Amino acid sequence: MSVPLKSMSSEKKCVVLGVTGGIAAYKACEILRLLQKQGMDVFVVMTGNACRFVAPLTFETLSGHPVAVDTFERPATWEVEHISLAKRADLFLIAPATANIIGKMACGIADDMLSTTVMATRAPVMIAPAMNTGMWENPATQQNIATLIARGVHVVAPATGHLACGDSGAGKLEDVAVIAQRALDVLRARRDMEGLRVMVTAGPSREALDPVRYVSNRSSGKMGYAIARAAAQRGAQVTLLSGPVSIAAPQGVRLVRFTTTQELLDRAMECAPEQDILIQAAAPADYRAKEIAPQKIKKRGGEELVLRLIENPDVAATLGRAKREGQVFVGFAAETNDVTAHARDKLVRKSLDMIVANDVTKPGAGFDVDTNIVTLITREGERELPLMTKEEAAEHILTRALELRLAR
Ligand code: CTP
Repeated sequence: MSVPLKSMSSEKKCVVLGVTGGIAAYKACEILRLLQKQGMDVFVVMTGNACRFVAPLTFETLSGHPVAVDTFERPATWEVEHISLAKRADLFLIAPATANIIGKMACGIADDMLSTTVMATRAPVMIAPAMNTGMWENPATQQNIATLIARGVHVVAPATGHLACGDSGAGKLEDVAVIAQRALDVLRARRDMEGLRVMVTAGPSREALDPVRYVSNRSSGKMGYAIARAAAQRGAQVTLLSGPVSIAAPQGVRLVRFTTTQELLDRAMECAPEQDILIQAAAPADYRAKEIAPQKIKKRGGEELVLRLIENPDVAATLGRAKREGQVFVGFAAETNDVTAHARDKLVRKSLDMIVANDVTKPGAGFDVDTNIVTLITREGERELPLMTKEEAAEHILTRALELRLAR
């Protein structure tokens, strides 16, 4: 099979549809038809097991293209085929996606046509899982799904209902119309940050007190990671400076790690000059130990322990002093009182163009939760946003930062 490369293709968007071996495989025929009706050109890749449920000829006839099945059957061409399909895709959709392909994708295993092609693609990837409830709820599957989401894979969660195996519960392939719609939403999604370089800082810093203890704070890094992921999906070239957090790095993002506030400052000063937009969601510790004890600090039999802390550099303020013409700098202000007044003060003091203020005492805002309530403050005015997920807040923050950039 020879597939034309993107540059040689017509205006039609290309969806590569991966079909894996589950009883719901026949529903992929309908997804293919729905996408075609919306003007998409669909190429199908099947796993060996999928071919036991639906004959490749069905997909060949419906799609009007040869179906790619197994990597090693035609050794002379398979490498070219899977790479050209991977490049050709505007969206890579796997429906139904079995626990097996989900596990392979999460672990980076590429051992057949579908797993190698999806690994090679740079297009957005969407999966619609379908499996037995026990398999779906298994911690291994759930962990793999979380890993894929963190990397930016779109997941159309399975529906709940009667399954082909006789069980009742979650695991049923979502309605085909819903899957097709979600695929179209991704295909039509904004790519409005293409060509822009964005640096995002996220997570806490840690300042050692002795070889086993440190001073830190409650930042989870979720907000910064959501911004980095959204910016990459919108086409930006993203560098993520991350403190110690337990979230997987988003796909397509350059990850630079830091531990202390001074390390964050050093890395940020190296990266900042070439950036267009800087978003500082990290929570660098304001103080560090004046002296780090070389040995573990021992208890003192009831006597007070006095720690001497000295102030760390202010990363945002230091970067602000080196800001180039046209760069947009965004900071955060997590406050517990007089939110707007404190945030406005930081906007000026740190030479920021926008500050994202939130009252961390409100339920649904702040540390370790998946939602946030923020106000976007610029020199021109304020925009108060309602309670929303950190992913949604990330989109609003990027849209406003982009407006500021375009106004330059
Ligand atoms: N920030 C920074 N360097 C620091 C402390 C904070 O760059 N040493 C940045 C954060 O990344 C954030 C913004 O400054 O974007 C505001 O952080 P916050 O902790 O609210 O500000 P502080 O200046 O530490 O103010 P205060 O602790 O007095 O509220």
